[in-house]
Amino acid sequence: MKLYHPNLNKKSRITRDPIAVSPVNELTALDPKQLKFQIAAALRIQNDYYPCFDWAFPPPITQKTPGSPAPQTLFQHPSVVPGRYSVYLHTPFCQSLCKFCYYPVIPGQQAGEMERYVEYLTREMALYAPELANDRCESVYVGGGTPTYLTPALLEKLLTSIHHHFRLTDDAEVTIESAPGTIPRDKIALLKEFGVNRLSYGIQTLDSALLATLNRNYSVSAAVRELEDAVAIIGNVNIDTMYGFDGESDDALLKTLSTFVALGIPCVSIYALDGQRRNHEIVRFEPSKDPYYERKIRIFRDARAFLTGQGFEPVLQNIFLQPTRASYRHQLRRWNNVTLVALGMSSTGYAPRRIYQNHLSLKNYYAHIDQGKLPILESEEISQEIEIMREAVCQLRFTQVDLARLNEKYGVDLGAVFHDLIEALTELGYLQSDGRVLRLTDKAAPYNNIIPMLFAPDTLKAVIFGLPEEYRENFPLPYVLTQIGATQSAAMNPGGH
Ligand SMILES: C[S@@+](CC[C@H](N)C(=O)[O-])C[C@H]1O[C@@H](n2cnc3c(N)ncnc32)[C@H](O)[C@@H]1O
Ligand code: SF4
Repeated sequence: MKLYHPNLNKKSRITRDPIAVSPVNELTALDPKQLKFQIAAALRIQNDYYPCFDWAFPPPITQKTPGSPAPQTLFQHPSVVPGRYSVYLHTPFCQSLCKFCYYPVIPGQQAGEMERYVEYLTREMALYAPELANDRCESVYVGGGTPTYLTPALLEKLLTSIHHHFRLTDDAEVTIESAPGTIPRDKIALLKEFGVNRLSYGIQTLDSALLATLNRNYSVSAAVRELEDAVAIIGNVNIDTMYGFDGESDDALLKTLSTFVALGIPCVSIYALDGQRRNHEIVRFEPSKDPYYERKIRIFRDARAFLTGQGFEPVLQNIFLQPTRASYRHQLRRWNNVTLVALGMSSTGYAPRRIYQNHLSLKNYYAHIDQGKLPILESEEISQEIEIMREAVCQLRFTQVDLARLNEKYGVDLGAVFHDLIEALTELGYLQSDGRVLRLTDKAAPYNNIIPMLFAPDTLKAVIFGLPEEYRENFPLPYVLTQIGATQSAAMNPGGH
């Protein structure tokens, strides 16, 4: 029987150090005396996709259950955040396909297909609405693709339908993603009128020559004008920037950031180019070393220093905002184990203790809705232990985890459970703690996707170590490192839940 997920190759992407790898039968229990030495040795690896921010816990390794559960089954477990949920809605359409993009995108579609898609989205909302009638929606994220590529009439229909099917709280954060050339001033005004209070705009870089090589064809000055309008009308605006391209100058990112800070953009996301997961020309096995590794670390550290010097604070390792002018609630709440309703082709969601993903093609997505079924491709039920660690591990990776709050929420003292591991990582300078909050230090930033995995439960490590050789050889995993911190999960006793 296959224990691993068929998408493993596409989704996992970090290298291993041969010294850190051992066969499954060598998975050893935590040895406090050896721990510091083992961690120090393991973290000598080059973390090739640094900084890796697009990451999930548990990692997508185990075989999911195919098929669409009925809504009642999907919501059968009680939520640890009762009465509240969020919504993610995917619109796959874009003007054209950018060379680097790894998202499920359908470029250059005609209005008719988009109209049909919005119609199916409203029908999908109607399938969820009865289950959620007594709960309140605290955040909506309309992502893509480029949702603002939809016509004003379709955006109006979509947003009206969201408000009709879901009971939004008064202060719900409603985000929409956007790209240059798709939001003239009157469209921004329409978005605001229909409840959008946060706009995320992908600009990537202000270097026109570089943009032309990426199949992003727009004028930088027109994009700047759109952004000025967005700041004036919506205010709460994020820009996505990227670095690590061939031919990019060392100061391209800093120049881009300083222009936008001067324009008054209150939130900035910085992504290192991940060349491995482009959704076209997929290369299964890239060379394991990233030639730009050291350079990427330097560029990111300079950018971080610049932004913090300008009064921005990190809400994630790579996302910085001015707290009085911008918000970033939806993505943070996502990892608090709040229910996340996934709408649209390929979206991923979280029902209490169940991770699920919608169908990946429009054809299958439509066919399920036509049959009155949720368009879910597959789902995975997770244990209570994994649910707790999902929250702890993801928050630590983002910047910090509040152990006292987790203790109140789940009745587990993770500080005691992971005492030896926390002490070793603190002594090595990777963690700081004030007894309540654990925080990754600057030294830990290049390993922000690996160190949190040291806290993964043993059951998960056993699966990772049991992966077939073909995966471990051709597509090395970071998770092999977790053997050094075999968790004391037997001590976890989430009493009272
Ligand atoms: C879903 S895209 C949507 C935004 C919008 N359509 C645009 O044009 O940017 C979100 C962001 O992911 C980032 N991204 C896309 N492909 C990437 C890749 N291969 N490596 C790193 N970041 C990537 C880009 O910064 C992009 O703005
Ligand atoms: S980066 Fe944005 S515009 Fe470009 S293909 Fe991806 S989702 Fe579409």
